[in-house]
Order: sequence, then structure tokens, then C-alpha cells
Amino acid sequence: MKKYIMTPIYYVNDVPHIGHAYTTIIADTMARFYRLQGHEVFFKTGTDEHGQKIEEAAAKHAQSPKQYADGVSAKFKDLWDEFDISYDMFSRTTDAAHEAAVQNVFRKMYEKGDIYKGEYEGNYCVSCESFFPSAQLIDGEYCPDCGKKTKILKEESYFFRLSAYAERLLKWYEDEKCILPLGKKNEVISFVKSGLKDLSITRTGFDWGVKIPPELNDPKHVIYVWLDALMDYLSSLGFCAGGERMEYWSDALHIVGKDILRFHAVYWPAFLMSLGLNMPRSIAAHGWWTRDGKKMSKSLGNVVDPREVANAYGLEQFRYFLLREVPFGQDGDFSQKAIINRVNSELANELGNLLSRIVGMSAKYSDYVINSKDVMKFFTAEIKEANSYLSAAISALEEVATNRYLEELWRALALANASIAKYEPWNLIKNGEQAKALALVALVANILAKVAVLLSPAMPKTAARIADTLGFEISTPLYEKLVLRGEILDFKAKPCEPLFTKIDHELMPKADYDRLDGAANSASCSGADAAAKGAPSLNANVTGSSATAQEAQGEATEAQIKIDDFKKCVIKVGTILECENIEGSEKLLRFMIDLGEERPRQIISGIAKFYDPAALIGKQICVLANLKPAKIFKHSSEGMILSAEDGSLTLLSTLAPVKNGAIVG
Ligand code: MSP
Repeated sequence: MKKYIMTPIYYVNDVPHIGHAYTTIIADTMARFYRLQGHEVFFKTGTDEHGQKIEEAAAKHAQSPKQYADGVSAKFKDLWDEFDISYDMFSRTTDAAHEAAVQNVFRKMYEKGDIYKGEYEGNYCVSCESFFPSAQLIDGEYCPDCGKKTKILKEESYFFRLSAYAERLLKWYEDEKCILPLGKKNEVISFVKSGLKDLSITRTGFDWGVKIPPELNDPKHVIYVWLDALMDYLSSLGFCAGGERMEYWSDALHIVGKDILRFHAVYWPAFLMSLGLNMPRSIAAHGWWTRDGKKMSKSLGNVVDPREVANAYGLEQFRYFLLREVPFGQDGDFSQKAIINRVNSELANELGNLLSRIVGMSAKYSDYVINSKDVMKFFTAEIKEANSYLSAAISALEEVATNRYLEELWRALALANASIAKYEPWNLIKNGEQAKALALVALVANILAKVAVLLSPAMPKTAARIADTLGFEISTPLYEKLVLRGEILDFKAKPCEPLFTKIDHELMPKADYDRLDGAANSASCSGADAAAKGAPSLNANVTGSSATAQEAQGEATEAQIKIDDFKKCVIKVGTILECENIEGSEKLLRFMIDLGEERPRQIISGIAKFYDPAALIGKQICVLANLKPAKIFKHSSEGMILSAEDGSLTLLSTLAPVKNGAIVG
């Protein structure tokens, strides 16, 4: 059977972070799961490149929107390639074929009478590319989704007759699995029941988007970015062109974040109804990630970079953590402590040690040969129990409940570990029960093999290593035999390295917000560990899932300090003598700075993405000089370089050159 799996297409106004990686890794797991089951899968991801937000971001970087989009889109594609994401297509909304399809869809809906011209006035959030009713705004003017200031827009617009689809949408929601997890469906139903207004689907006043069809003689109208973006799911199948892959549309699964569920569960199905197409099988909405209990934001500098986590802890470990840590649909918190706990107890102990024990026992008792002929004689109940966990894991994954799926697999591993403890094969051998001891080794090897096959969608490399060690290959026929039919196998094992090493300390530098206290959007500090730990923290204001409007505007309330408190900070001007990237870190630069002292100071600063190191040599900058030295990424850092941040970042300097070591105060 053909199956279509989609991630949202990611906006190119931001580089990939843990949220994007989460969505993509879930989708990759689903694609691998369906392939394992023997389905023909088309797995698509890509980038969303039109709209005012992108036009503005490009202007900020002094690039054309297309140049800018090319750069960021490549960053997404590179990361997915590095992460071995098994996508079949990486689509971009700036592809000519997509743009033509969007115009064709508009034309079809217009000819059908589902699109008409009118006038729109409303509160518009540029950042979310959405209008909001006044009643939903925070303090009457701030966006309820992102907290930024909205503006009143009054303009001619083309409208989609969304209101005409309310009844049919409500009927569709009766389909049990249309929105996952089930709890999310109720939110969507009440939104639709509260009354659907027609949807404004064109904008004027900016250019970066797909124009409405030329025959409407209205060239100032650009098609609303969400209609444009959603159509990517169809244009990628050849809709409105050759239609070469449209058969995949018959079974479509969307993985999205909860923030964009409304677009996918209300607007999208209505568009599909208008086009006479079938509904997706499911729209699965996951929760949001925070870091160390705090909302992630660029200005706090605590956004989790997925590459950094994978480099530090391992890609397979990162995948496991993301998929296991939170019940699907709920919000999750990333912390190094949490990932370390999972790696040590679940991956190194419960999974890795089990493989080592099987290899060790089989080497000792039977020269690595694992014969299963007596397993059903002694251990029918255990095999049955293990099979039941696997069935439960499959049912969970079919509902995209990735955490329950892994929990069920770990139940099977717990059973294998407990069986060794219960039957003590070494005592069985001592007592002359050789056959039972060998059957026990074969039992646990079979449980592990079954788990490995079904774990392969989530942890493909780990599963392949287990299979290699036990001498089998993961394939659809083997999935059918071991997992679906619950049969058992013989194995020929071989020695192996431990699957996972235990971790005894945090492998990434602490989040930057430790160094940004009290300075989110005004003068901010980048560099060594925070002396300011005791200082009043802005972070206290930004826990929870949505920042307040004030914070989004960078107007957080700052606690006042006395002049004596300020005097405790020794800020000096110095010249950068050396500056270079630190190997293995995307963020960090290593500086040698002349502060007019006996020897230059080494300072490590997390500003690599803002500066080319060579361009900084010789520049004078300001440094917090009496900061307690700290180790960052194994390098000692003796101070903090000061910078100002407003979305981008610039180092602080003086208006005229001064002597190195001059005090700022
Ligand atoms: N371009 C739109 C999607 C159009 S699809 C037709 C978009 N792009 S996005 O880049 O902003 O977000 C894409 C995905 O990233 C969403 O699924 C979103 O929920 C997810 N995340 C962004 N930040 C996130 C977290 N902090 N945590 C988890 N996922 C979040 O929306």
C-alpha cells in the first residue's frame, strides 16, 4: 500500500532547532516504520519560503528574498542529510512547479465560486502571518500566539468560503483517527463550533509570494502564505500538473506542531474539500519543547541546536530521547540531565548490557551458537508475553504515540533482563540443566531480536548493530516472522563493542541564558560563565509556554540595582589579538584579548554564528574583566565579551580608540 508522510515545510526565517528536529524525527520514524511493514512510502519535507516575514528577514541581511531563502533552506536540507533523515523529497515553495500549482488551485477554487473578492480589516501579526479577532489579542494589541505587536490592516482581499465548510468539517471530525492525539480534536471541534468566518487568502503591500492568476487583472494580490504553503503537500505529488504521484494522497499522514494544528485541521481539509480531494488519514500534533523549564528564544540565547546535541550525545541517543521523553501531544523539556539519565539507564543498562550479556553467555556456553529448539519447551509464557508487548508497541506507533511505542519495547527488554535474573543460567549449568540454560539464552536473544526489528524505525543504526552482532538482517519478511507472527530464530553471535557508553557529566556548555541574565534585548553579554547568577533574572518572566507581549517586545521589567552593585563589575576595553572557531562547536569562538595586563586573556564566547573570526582581529571591544574564570568546552575562559542584541548581535566598542585596559564606567 502507498503511504504519504509529511513534515510541515519549515519557514526559512530561522535556522533549524530542536522543534524542527522533533517534527522531522517523528516523521522519519513513521516513514521507516511503514517501510518496515512493506508499504511503499513517499516521505516529504521541505521549506516554506514566501511571505512578508521572509521578505523582512532577507532585507535585514541585505539579501534578496530568494538569496536568503536559498541559504536557510540549504541549512535545513544539510541538517536532515547529516541526520540521515530518510526523506524522498525536499520541496521548496519557490520551485516554479509549485508556484504554478498554487495559481492553478486558486483558479480552480475561484471558478468553483469558493473564492470571492471583498475587503478585510483586522489585527494582523506579521510574525505569524495571521489576522486575529480583537477579542483574542493580549492587552488589545499583542498577538495571542507569539506575543508580538499586531498592526491594523485594511485591504482589498480575496476570500475563501471557509464558513460553507463548517458542517462538513464537523462530520469529518467524527472519524476517530483524523486528529491525533484524540485530546487535541476537541480543541479543533470547539474552534469550528464557535463559528467559522470566511478566510482572507490574499495580501497586498508586499511582493514576495505567488501572484493570483493573471487573468484576474489584480497584480497587487499575493496569495496568502498559508494557502501557498499547504498546497506544497499536493504540488509535491504533481497535483495540477502531471499528477504523477497523486496515488500517495489516498493515505496521507501529517506530523505537525500543536501551534499549527488549526491551519492543518481546519483550513487544510476545507481546501481539500473544495478541490474534491479525500481527507488525510491523520493529522498528528505534537507538543512544544522548552529548555531547562524555560521557553526557548533567540534573545535568551537558549535555543537548543539539534546538531550540537547530536554531536555531544550521539544522534541515536538524541532520537531516542526526543521520541521517548514526552507523551505524544504534550510539551517536553530538554535538559542535559534528562538525556543523560535516559542514556545511562535505558540505553546503556537495559538495552546495551542485555546485548553484551547475550554475547557473553553464548560465547561461554555454546561458542556463540544460539539454538532456539528448546525455547518453546521451557519458555512459552515469556515468548507470549514478549509478543504482546510488541503488538502493543505497533498499535501505539500507528497512533504516532512514540513514547508508548518505546515504553512497550522496553517492557520486553525488562522481561528479558528479569528472565536472566530469575532463571540464573549460570546456576542452571551448575545444576546440570544445560538444555534449559541454552534455551534461556535463546529466549533473551529472541526477545532482543524482536525488539531490535521494531526499534529500527526509531534507532536504525542501533538496531542494525544488534542485528549484525546476532547475525541477522532487518527486513520486512523478518518483521513479519518475528514481530507479526511471533516466531523465533536461531542466531550465530559475535563479539561486540558496548552499544552505549555511560555519561558521567554534561557534554554541552550550559545554555547561554546563564550568561544573559538581566539583558535579554538590551546590552547582552556573550562569553564565560555568569557571575551574574545572583543578579535578578529575566528568565523568571519567561517560563511557561508563551512569552508575554512585553517580553516579546523586549521590554521586560528590570530590577533596579545600586551604583555599588554596578561598581562590582570591572569592564575594560581590550584589543582582539587572536580569534578562531573551536573545533566541534558551532557556537563558540576562542579569543585572545589584550586588556593592558601582563598577558593577554583567553575568553570563550558563543557568538560564532554572528562573526567571521578573521574579521575581528585588531578590533577593540568591551570585556567584563572580573568574572570568575570558567571552563567552556574544555577551554578556560577568563572574562565575558559584551555585546548588544536585538535579534542580531553586535559587539560593544568605544566611539574612539582608547588604551587597552581603559575602564568602562
Ligand atoms: N511554515 C510553517 C508550516 C507550513 S506547513 C504547510 C511553519 N513553519 S515553522 O518552521 O515555524 O515550524 C515548523 C514546525 O516546527 C512546527 O511543527 C512547529 O510546531 C515546530 N516547532 C517550532 N518550535 C517548536 C518548539 N519549541 N518545540 C516543538 N516544535 C516546535 O510553522
